[in-house]
Amino acid sequence: MEYSRMISERMWNQPDKGELEAAREKTFIDDIVQKAHIEKELLSSLDGIKTAFDGGAGSGRFSILLAKKGIEVTHFDISQTMIDKAKETAKKEGVEDRITFVKGALEDLSAYKDRSFDLVMSFDSPISYTYPEQEKVIGQLIRICAKRIMISVSSRLGALPYLANPIQKNQFILDRDSDDPWVQWCIKSRQEMIDGFSFRLKDVLNTYETGLMCDAEETKAAYDRGEIPWSISYHFMPKEIENILKSNGVKNIKLAGPGAFARTIPNEILVKIMNDPMQKKDFLEFCHIYDSDPYVCGMGKDNLFARGDI
Ligand SMILES: C[S@@+](CC[C@H](N)C(=O)[O-])C[C@H]1O[C@@H](n2cnc3c(N)ncnc32)[C@H](O)[C@@H]1O
Repeated sequence: MEYSRMISERMWNQPDKGELEAAREKTFIDDIVQKAHIEKELLSSLDGIKTAFDGGAGSGRFSILLAKKGIEVTHFDISQTMIDKAKETAKKEGVEDRITFVKGALEDLSAYKDRSFDLVMSFDSPISYTYPEQEKVIGQLIRICAKRIMISVSSRLGALPYLANPIQKNQFILDRDSDDPWVQWCIKSRQEMIDGFSFRLKDVLNTYETGLMCDAEETKAAYDRGEIPWSISYHFMPKEIENILKSNGVKNIKLAGPGAFARTIPNEILVKIMNDPMQKKDFLEFCHIYDSDPYVCGMGKDNLFARGDI
């Protein structure tokens, strides 16, 4: 088995992963913006869609949404923890009968015939976690897709500013009193991160050129030592993702960068907007418009979004 698969399997199967991922939109504003963008795209593209495949479907954020719209969904994920969480939510929402839960890795989609699903989707980076197989995986997702494909992958231009900002996540904390361990870690370690930071041209250029934020060999070694490293994530350039889709025959390609507008606004203002339902609705609507402009797609907060027709 490839390292990408083994590393992701260990990382995403941690017992608290399902709960924590399901709570992200209650804790971080960039996640609210990103998921709202995808939801809007999905809900406006369901004409003629009866079946959907969600690759790396996680805690069911989008698979359950589509099941509630009457679509037969295959919820596919490498993590049993995430599947269990999604099953629990699907049951509560009364749609478990419309979802087929499958534990599997995107690196192997051989169980599915060509054009098996009307809609194929994969959001918030599962494709990036299959490095170095990411391009082949996109080809396989297109192979099993009959009508429409929607993906979001890690963004290279969007991630590079992290290398000059170790406290980037603090900008997006919604509730500083949240008991989410990541929120509390961001608050506690803020000063330490600033004190320990130095800008290194070598690291930035390395990510710019390779699309990797980490040393893949070091991550594999950490895995071999029994540690739980974060998945090796491949960050795409906008032109690159467009070319991969085009070369696999995808038409009407649209790219977007969810979070591009929100990342220009300080935390105090973002929190104020989010705590007023009217402003929040208007803000998310405008974020969708601004972030859909192809000129800003590379500056999405974490992800580059792409959609197209087969
Ligand atoms: C950040 S979560 C995104 C979940 C969901 N798509 C969403 O947008 O809310 C990433 C998901 O990808 C899954 N994953 C990671 N590597 C995978 C792989 N190689 N094959 C299938 N799923 C994978 C993880 O288990 C996790 O549930």
